[in-house]
Amino acid sequence: MTPGLAFTNAMDSFRIPAQYLIAMDNRTLHFALQPWQFLIRAVHVFTVSIFFGAVLLLNLRLLGRAVELPLRPFFRLAMPVIHSSLAVTMLTGVALFFYDPVAVGSHDWLTPKLLFITLGFMNAAWLNSNGKAGRLTTPNGQLTMPGRTAVIIALALWTLTIFCSCLNAEPPPRLFLGS
Ligand code: HEM
Repeated sequence: MTPGLAFTNAMDSFRIPAQYLIAMDNRTLHFALQPWQFLIRAVHVFTVSIFFGAVLLLNLRLLGRAVELPLRPFFRLAMPVIHSSLAVTMLTGVALFFYDPVAVGSHDWLTPKLLFITLGFMNAAWLNSNGKAGRLTTPNGQLTMPGRTAVIIALALWTLTIFCSCLNAEPPPRLFLGS
């Protein structure tokens, strides 16, 4: 690469500014985490899989699939799995970020991923508070339209989060060598 030549792309204005990424870089932490980075990443991907699987099954049930499954016991099983896997996902995600903030922060899809995670949390908080207040179900236990919409939005947001993560790991090639 020619020194001093700046390459820009459409995602540049969405990036965390370089001076903040540099300020967050801690080489002592980097070298301490280095032997474990692959394992932290493996745990991250593993808990993401558990989280998304549990969210998907619960949301499909809420949307009316397999209605013969009683909702309350299913909820009791799914919620601790969702909460604990999301907690480990967030912890390992933060560790992966601080392992190399400049490299991770330079990935095009990190900021959209963090945005989708934030929206996912806000949507979950809305679902939780309205669900507890009994505003999301009809008297015969069906989801109301706002409830259905929020459940579909939840699935879309977590899918987009995973999609952005995969784009961060291996972006689509800018040049198709085979064509
Ligand atoms: C504070 C929250 C999070 C942070 C800081 C974070 C950060 C990271 C980092 C640094 C990587 C390695 C790839 C890269 O360098 O970009 C990664 C991988 C990944 N993350 Fe996260 N993550 C977070 C939460 C989540 C959540 C909530 C999900 C999904 C629901 C998720 C899904 C994934 C997946 C699927 C990968 C593997 C991508 C691949 O290797 O193909 N992450 N994450």
